[in-house]
Formats: sequence, structure tokens, C-alpha cells
Amino acid sequence: MPQTNPFHSMVPRKLTDSELARAIRLDMEAELDAINLYAAHIDATDNEDAKAILRHVMDEEREHAALFWELIARLDPAQAEHIKVMSEKFRLIVSGASHEAVEAAGEGGGGGSAAAEPGMDKRLTVGSLRR
Ligand SMILES: [Fe+2]
Repeated sequence: MPQTNPFHSMVPRKLTDSELARAIRLDMEAELDAINLYAAHIDATDNEDAKAILRHVMDEEREHAALFWELIARLDPAQAEHIKVMSEKFRLIVSGASHEAVEAAGEGGGGGSAAAEPGMDKRLTVGSLRR
């Protein structure tokens, strides 16, 4: 059975919060993959006992994914900033607001999400390469 190497991102010291956020994203990915796996197995059987167990375990994986999401928000200030404005952007998108209105949501202070991550204010972008 293929498994993710749990040591592939290990470093010979304690992780910074940024590095830990990266590791937790992989953990969350495993939870999401498990949810899809169990859902497929539920769909693939008529055995009600198996379906009940799989549904129970699948719901626990949903909880784990939600907990990891909260943890990532604490470890990654840029992600936390996106989460803060996400519900307003979501509301605007599903209500049919213009692209400009959606993109304007959450702007207007704080320097944006890039400044929330140390060193990210100097990151290269496509625009940087054109200059
Ligand atoms: Fe889990």
C-alpha cells in the first residue's frame, strides 16, 4: 500500500511555524484523500454494516481536516488573512457580484496577505520578471 514518507520534510531541528504549516497542509491532504477514498468505498458496496463504519470513519476524517484547517490558520498569517475575507468574497461570488466587487472585498488596509508573511513583501512575481 503506497504511503507518504513521514520523514520527507523533516529537518534536523524543530520546525518553524511556516514549515509546520507546510507539513500540516500535507496532513490535511491525507485527510481529504481519505474522505474521498471512504466515499468511493461507500458507493461501491451494498453492505450496510460496512457503509455505517465507513461513514463514521469518514466523518472523523472530516473533523480532522477541519481541525488541521484551523491549525494552519494559526500557523500561517497569510492564510488566516484569506480566511478572514473568504466568507464575504464567497457571498459576493454566489450573489453574482462583479469580478471587481469580489476582488475589492477585504482590501482597504493591513497591507494585504503578502505582507502578513515575513519576507513575502520582497517576493518575485511575474511583474518582477518583466522589469
Ligand atoms: Fe484522520
